[in-house]
Amino acid sequence: MEAQAVTWLSGADLHHWRRQQLADWPGPANGLDWLLDLEGGLSWRELQSSHLHPERGLELRCGLDHLAGLWKRHCIEQVPLQHLVGRCPWRDLELAVSKDVLIPRQETELLVELACDLPLASGELPRRWADLGTGSGCLALALARQWPASEGWAVDRSPEALAVARANGEAQNEPMASLHWCVGDWWQPLTPLAGTLELVVSNPPYIPSAVVDVLDPGVRDHEPRLALDGGSDGLDSLRRIIKSAPRMLAPGGWLLVEHHHDQSQAVLALMQQADLVDCRSASDLEGNARFALARQACS
Ligand SMILES: C[S@@+](CC[C@H](N)C(=O)[O-])C[C@H]1O[C@@H](n2cnc3c(N)ncnc32)[C@H](O)[C@@H]1O
Repeated sequence: MEAQAVTWLSGADLHHWRRQQLADWPGPANGLDWLLDLEGGLSWRELQSSHLHPERGLELRCGLDHLAGLWKRHCIEQVPLQHLVGRCPWRDLELAVSKDVLIPRQETELLVELACDLPLASGELPRRWADLGTGSGCLALALARQWPASEGWAVDRSPEALAVARANGEAQNEPMASLHWCVGDWWQPLTPLAGTLELVVSNPPYIPSAVVDVLDPGVRDHEPRLALDGGSDGLDSLRRIIKSAPRMLAPGGWLLVEHHHDQSQAVLALMQQADLVDCRSASDLEGNARFALARQACS
């Protein structure tokens, strides 16, 4: 749909239009306001002040018909808004997204914070690290910006996802680590790095297959199954990642993973079975154990 030209209108006209869009929508208004911001260029602050000053003029960078068309597709076909605008703000990044990658989730931002707080055996910043199942490249790019003097490897089995991640990398203007984008199956492209990785992060597919089938249609029908489906108990990918971690990590190197809300005990048990040490869980902002970390013993 054509975005049309810049549009001028009063706050009163915008709110009239906004009420029309929301009339048959049972959900909250924040999706429409998000669309006004990302596609229309109208910040939340401008929207709020237009309630107080409805007579003042506002500028949108596209037409109302264009926005109404996108909103309709979201409401009727349940297409995620991030797909409709083609991008997603995440942490301090703005990432291109498509149907080929998981839309980066807010809870995954915590994985970056956890990674940055890890005590490394060397007492220094990581020099070599990897992101397994990079999707949009969100984790790899956040870490690459955090540690510009390091070298990172970002792996995904989906060539289409990797193309999105690579393009997101090329769009960055900040100093960044040197990044290698690798298509492949979990550790397989990293085999030459065995025993040298000081940190590996992963947000693998971890939803049990039967649960994927009954997910909200906005997720189930529009996000890649390869990014969601973790097999019958959701742990297929985590099992493989954890099993090979001791071979790939440097002495004292950390593995840090995200998992489903009910997998904490099982993931910690897998880490212990793999002879990783200092196994522990970490919680999301709602207090649910959603992350597990462990390290290779120092030799
Ligand atoms: C849950 S998504 C995470 C994407 C991104 N890291 C994030 O946090 O938003 C899991 C990713 O793992 C990838 N994946 C699935 N199976 C894989 C495999 N065997 N080897 C490598 N990547 C795989 C998927 O294509 C998907 O991009």
